[in-house]
Amino acid sequence: MKRVLVCGSNGLLGQRLAFILDGESEYEVLHTSHHRSFVNKQELVDYTQLDISNRGDVKSLISSFRPDIVLNAAAMTNVDLCEREREQAWKMNVTGVEHLVEVCRRINAKLIHVSTDYVFDGKFGNYAEGDRANPVNYYGKTKLAGENVIISSGIDHAILRTILVYGIGINVKNNFALWVINNLNEGIQIQCVDDQISNPTHVHDLAMAMKNIMESDVNGMFHISGPETISRYDFAIRAADIFGYDKSLILKIKTPDLRQRATRPMNTSFNINKAKTQLHYTPMTITQGLIMMQHDLTGIHLN
Ligand SMILES: NC(=O)c1ccc[n+]([C@@H]2O[C@H](COP(=O)([O-])OP(=O)(O)OC[C@H]3O[C@@H](n4cnc5c(N)ncnc54)[C@H](OP(=O)(O)O)[C@@H]3O)[C@@H](O)[C@H]2O)c1
Repeated sequence: MKRVLVCGSNGLLGQRLAFILDGESEYEVLHTSHHRSFVNKQELVDYTQLDISNRGDVKSLISSFRPDIVLNAAAMTNVDLCEREREQAWKMNVTGVEHLVEVCRRINAKLIHVSTDYVFDGKFGNYAEGDRANPVNYYGKTKLAGENVIISSGIDHAILRTILVYGIGINVKNNFALWVINNLNEGIQIQCVDDQISNPTHVHDLAMAMKNIMESDVNGMFHISGPETISRYDFAIRAADIFGYDKSLILKIKTPDLRQRATRPMNTSFNINKAKTQLHYTPMTITQGLIMMQHDLTGIHLN
């Protein structure tokens, strides 16, 4: 039986990993995150508190659990907060990864890590794995530095870069789709940019790709996103369509109107051919993803 350690289990991706790994008899899974307890108290999962930025705690937990595989879903993901609290962002997204790498090397474990489209400057779009990274904000810089720590370490690893992850989780940070749905549901007018273009990714596809990589023994970098390239404005309109909300509540704006602290890359769409070929990755369309979200929200369907 393989031992799997998950970091960041209270987040959107971490919770989905807990859901899909639950009941898998070939794995012994230990879920960990910042908080003292797992957010979903109904879930019968093994959970331990672990701050990956604490070297001593990472060393002692991993040395005692001795995982074969570490799935890292932990990160500081608030882009504007990373811009403001740079030291903290580096500590979470780079130093934390260094700690995981150090211990994985010692016990010969594989590290499967998640990175972002924000490593690119967004000038071109259709980015493939080998394209040149050039982050335009501090979050992107930390995530690129985290990737480089792993790649240069020589440990057994895979890195999944992903984009605008959406889906349902308990007490998770507002993801874009959830923010749209919650506001429209309350009849609140929202402003969405039509000049930021990417491939929204349902969290279930990302978690399944991680599991697939864990089982298929592949290494290296993979671009894992949804199949459709769309602006945030059009994505919001699609969400309103599926959920039956009033589309006139969605106002079209441009990125400078938002006056965000961190610069945003404009077109970070991915070329996912490598994942399709090597992992047989077949992500949901946006319509399928939003329907899954609707079912998850009503508790009818969660797989
Ligand atoms: N969401 C997106 O749109 C998106 C897009 C591209 C890439 N990604 C990447 O995908 C991965 C998963 O993101 P997500 O959407 O699931 O993010 P999330 O919902 O913000 O979850 C991240 C989790 O990591 C935990 N965490 C933060 N620092 C930690 C630390 N030092 N030790 C242990 N746990 C820590 C957080 O706990 P606290 O809440 O307690 O801090 C949170 O539960 C991240 O690597 C992110 O960079 C996400």
